[in-house]
Amino acid sequence: MIKNKKILIVLTASILAGCSSSSSSSGSSGTQSTSAQAQAIYNSMTLEQKIGQLIQPSFGILMSGPNANSVRCDADLHQPSSPLIDAQTIVDCGLDQIGQYHLGAVLQGGGPLFTDLAPTATNWRRLNLLAKAVSVESNSYDPLLLIGNDAIHVNMHVQGGVMGPHNVGMGAANDPALMQQLQKLAAQDSLATGFNWVFAPTIAEVHDERWGRSYEGFSANSAVLQSLTTAAVNGLQNVQNGKITGVLATAKHFIGDGATQFGLDEGDDAYTGTESDFWAANGKGYEAAVDANVGSIMASYSAIDGNDTRMHFGGKWDIINQFKETGIIGTGGKNFIFPGFIISDYNGAVRAAYFYDKVSNTAPLTLPQIFAKSINGGVDMQMVAGGALINVFDPSPTAPVYYSNVGQVFDAIKTAYNDGLISENTLHNSVMRILIAKLSMAPQSVPLSQYASIQAQERTLALQAAKESLILLKNQNSVIPVVAGGVQNVVFVGDTNDVGIQNGGWTINWQGQEGNRFFTGADQLSSGTVTIESAVMAQLGSSVNYYHVNSTESLPSGFVGGATTLVIGVVNEPPYAEYMGDIANSVESDQWYAFGIATNTSPYFGLSQSMFQGVTYSISESAAVGTLQANGSKVITVIYSGRPVILSGAAGSPDSISNAEIAAFLPGTTGGQAISDAIFGNYRFGANGFSNTLPFPWPTDMTDVELHFPTGGLYPVGYGLTD
Ligand code: GLC
Repeated sequence: MIKNKKILIVLTASILAGCSSSSSSSGSSGTQSTSAQAQAIYNSMTLEQKIGQLIQPSFGILMSGPNANSVRCDADLHQPSSPLIDAQTIVDCGLDQIGQYHLGAVLQGGGPLFTDLAPTATNWRRLNLLAKAVSVESNSYDPLLLIGNDAIHVNMHVQGGVMGPHNVGMGAANDPALMQQLQKLAAQDSLATGFNWVFAPTIAEVHDERWGRSYEGFSANSAVLQSLTTAAVNGLQNVQNGKITGVLATAKHFIGDGATQFGLDEGDDAYTGTESDFWAANGKGYEAAVDANVGSIMASYSAIDGNDTRMHFGGKWDIINQFKETGIIGTGGKNFIFPGFIISDYNGAVRAAYFYDKVSNTAPLTLPQIFAKSINGGVDMQMVAGGALINVFDPSPTAPVYYSNVGQVFDAIKTAYNDGLISENTLHNSVMRILIAKLSMAPQSVPLSQYASIQAQERTLALQAAKESLILLKNQNSVIPVVAGGVQNVVFVGDTNDVGIQNGGWTINWQGQEGNRFFTGADQLSSGTVTIESAVMAQLGSSVNYYHVNSTESLPSGFVGGATTLVIGVVNEPPYAEYMGDIANSVESDQWYAFGIATNTSPYFGLSQSMFQGVTYSISESAAVGTLQANGSKVITVIYSGRPVILSGAAGSPDSISNAEIAAFLPGTTGGQAISDAIFGNYRFGANGFSNTLPFPWPTDMTDVELHFPTGGLYPVGYGLTD
């Protein structure tokens, strides 16, 4: 319980006023080295305080604490804003457990804020600074409470926030300087909203485009992957005078997350080669991340070679501990050692246990044994949240779980230590790594008053990145650039006015969402949201006739188009994240797909083409576009997708009825403006000589995808027309 309400309020007020917490002001550690400082803190800590450093609960699971009440918490947080923070709010929101379990970190997972509390910058800051105040007041030995955020395409959580292109687009842009600037702003955005740890960059090497997280990969070109990794880590951490003045960055997911069989998310790489070859195919990003002094690395859910090699239990060759202690020989014979700490993924240890138990001939692991295996396997901090299923494939709402509150996790790790399953040396190693990372941080105090200015800068850079991320796949008769003065009619086909499709997954919600919710009115302006439709209409003005063909609208009878008619159509994947974006495959009807299909939890599997990595117009749209093109209209198809997708060979495929095709991937809120500028020549493809090129091969058909492009596919890595 909070001992002294007055102290808490004063502390909170000072923090809210932007004074940094004790550690960051004492970042200048004088003569004592960071390691010596950490050791001194360690020596002062109780066993319980040490264990608390190994746990990162979500706000959600804290809400499951015995004294918490989400309804009251939600109501409390709706109260007029701080600085008066009612100590009861702390209990209602489960934040008193930060003191009770000596927690050194918390996170907000992929979801939005509590129930109907608007996910605004103000509300995020309020919740996060509340947590920070409890930590400062309850855990005075702790250099800093880490508060994690998935700002993977700028700050995904904020209503009205600027969403940049996802990593696949940043790979197409191939602009490290721009990447670093944008990530520096993403860090300031996070700090302004109260977060100080960003679970980015994803540096997966994508070996199978059926993987639902392909769009989190930068590029199949190792040099591009490495340069963007370096830029992202430097931008996010913004090290000045040896201190991280931005946020702690996280390279993820270690290792081989993009190398699973069939692209199955959280699957098995089924790799039987040598460690050095495995590293050569999956470790390039980690070499750049270590050289850029990334502070943390997140373990992958996947396995290297069978379910007894799950990364959350250390993987194969004891590769995590090797990477942390002796190093791994990589490019150029250089030895790469990671001095930071390893964070697990969301309930990663118990998910590994499910698969491990499937293949081991011992009794199912107990929770203390599970955490011991994970921590001994090199995972220093356990990210824990609700839904810690005992059977990861049991979709029922009443499925049994390993834990439902953070106290059970704390007790299990303490039991593991007291039973000798975790040694003092291992505990010391993990806690020291975490403390050293914290002592290396001196995050800028970014008051919310700066937020509008940060967003203005983000809009400019996100738009430039979106433009550079576009790929001109096809341009018959050079229809692009379109001369605006020659257009009398515009026909918009498909979802040309949906920012949710532009943004993709990891936007406000874990899976993202179609439509324009969270990005209208003032939020439209602050986020720089511009759809294709709004941009084109602004470009051409009101003297042009505009028509729509989509699920609810069709052309007026008699309208047939012609040389002065411009057709701009969108074909797209739905927003998705993680396994929800996996392409089910004809080869392996893995139980995981059954999980997705059985519970219909995947919007992707809801589509008729869930086995088909392609995009199409609807039949009626396709018929309209075909007629318009036959009558001389210029047809430009824009593709919104997380990955290269098949454009021909299916009913409604766009290729045969398009004069030009632009692959836009997931360009974010400014995407419509970028695309319009590219269509009308305000932006020229490839103008800077290194952008607008494919980061991954583009498939002709599913054979290319399933057999990994035996004949190169339709367009190779590096392809991109100029105009
Ligand atoms: C998710 C993702 C990981 C993310 C974490 C926290 O399951 O695998 O990339 O950072 O959980 O949201």
